[in-house]
Amino acid sequence: MAFYEVKHPLVAHKLGLLRDVNTPSSHFRELCADLGSILFYEASRKLPLRKKTIKTPLEETEVEELAVKNLILAPVLRAGLGMIPHIKSSYPEIKVAHIGIFRNEDTLKPELYYLKLPREIEDSVFYILDPMLATGGSLAYAVEKLKEHGAKKIVCLCIIAAPEGVAYLEKSHPEIVIFAAALDRELNKHGFILPGLGDAGDRLFGT
Ligand code: PRP
Repeated sequence: MAFYEVKHPLVAHKLGLLRDVNTPSSHFRELCADLGSILFYEASRKLPLRKKTIKTPLEETEVEELAVKNLILAPVLRAGLGMIPHIKSSYPEIKVAHIGIFRNEDTLKPELYYLKLPREIEDSVFYILDPMLATGGSLAYAVEKLKEHGAKKIVCLCIIAAPEGVAYLEKSHPEIVIFAAALDRELNKHGFILPGLGDAGDRLFGT
């Protein structure tokens, strides 16, 4: 499995604000959306292009366009929703699948409560969005569900990741690629990432 930690001064700065307990929900939402689009930008670096001829206002010229049939964002509800807004505004054609998973706080096991996928699956590139990769149970389950429905190309975008979760994904789905803004230190005994950012879903939605 490939794991990339995106190193960039803006990412570092935004992460510092995101981790801060005093950052209000409205700013937290903006930061998640920013980091979502930075991760998507990094993860889409190798998408194939094809050439086509167009006319500028002055002459004919050859330009390039994306040569992929479909790009699909697959946010893991709820927190993954927070990473969508800036990706969707810079690439409006992108489709959005929804994967409703919550982590049972007692067992730490993932439970699926909703799944809605677009029709075109096999020729699509899926970007699973989840701000937090903790034990890895939720993300591994999301990957499993997409694979069961025929997804062939899956990339995961996480804002922070715990080493335990990365190791779990490496074991369960060795072919996938993960982009993260930070690899954190460890999980505590409740399965929370340290130093972390708290519960992304609660901070995004004020619950
Ligand atoms: C959080 C987080 C991930 C998951 C990570 O979601 O957004 O989806 O936990 O934990 P894991 O790697 O140990 O599975 P949560 O279950 O709290 O749901 P929410 O987004 O609705 O708050």
